[in-house]
Amino acid sequence: MTARESVSQTIDKLANVVKNGVSAIPRVGLVLGSGLGSFADGLEELVKIPYQMLDGMPVSTVVGHAGNLCFGKVQGVSVVCMQGRAHLYEGHAPEAVVTGARLMARLGATHVLITNAAGGIETSWAAGDLMLITDHLNLTGASPLSGPNDDTLGPRFPDMTRAYDLEVQAAARQAARSTGVVLREGIYAGLLGPTYETPAEVRMLRILGAQAVGMSTVHEVIALRHMGIKVGALSCITNMAAGISNELLHHGEVEEIARTRREDLKRLLSAWIVGIAGTKEEPA
Ligand code: HPA
Repeated sequence: MTARESVSQTIDKLANVVKNGVSAIPRVGLVLGSGLGSFADGLEELVKIPYQMLDGMPVSTVVGHAGNLCFGKVQGVSVVCMQGRAHLYEGHAPEAVVTGARLMARLGATHVLITNAAGGIETSWAAGDLMLITDHLNLTGASPLSGPNDDTLGPRFPDMTRAYDLEVQAAARQAARSTGVVLREGIYAGLLGPTYETPAEVRMLRILGAQAVGMSTVHEVIALRHMGIKVGALSCITNMAAGISNELLHHGEVEEIARTRREDLKRLLSAWIVGIAGTKEEPA
């Protein structure tokens, strides 16, 4: 994004570039987090556009975030996937971090499913568990909506009462039932990072009511709700949060555990997408 360009101008420009290479209008968008990007490689009729080819799209420097915008189909449903995301802790501005999410909405996705790797705070859970996010705590101290409001994107004061859409949540539960994948539920605390939390911070988060903690997602959800997009989100609990177990934390483990859940995640996400596509209105 240049200094004179508004957020909507940036995403319009990106959308025009992308539309030259892809014909289908995506119905569902997905953000694929740390170690979870392989879902996109299994899409039918896959078309990949590296973020580097998209001027204005922030590129992630984090291992496990490939950096491709992927188009394709899941059982006939057109989707667009972000294979990797940029994070606030990499030095990107809050409004830049959500460029990809806003772009998917501008391309036509009416529903967006967000995935991430997260630390588990609930003591009865284990690494490898999957959690449907039912609400969040934005503890990053930042918002992608700070600054002048772009009225063409959405209102100054977006409602966040149902940030995580109830029908999209119901579709996730149905997908879990039909695939036999166990799906926990809870509240996601989004922190700036890039350090993992201290055990004292994790105790604080538990008191605040969080079941999982991570360094992404909350800004994407805010930006998408601003645009009136229906959002669902899912955490892969890649480790127990600091101090919950005796283990020390490292990114290699996050990627490794996420990889072990690839197949279940693929089945769950596919059923979720098909369920959503079945319940929503056809694009005009
Ligand atoms: N904390 C924050 N972010 C994370 C974690 C964690 O324990 N695991 C994966 N992402």
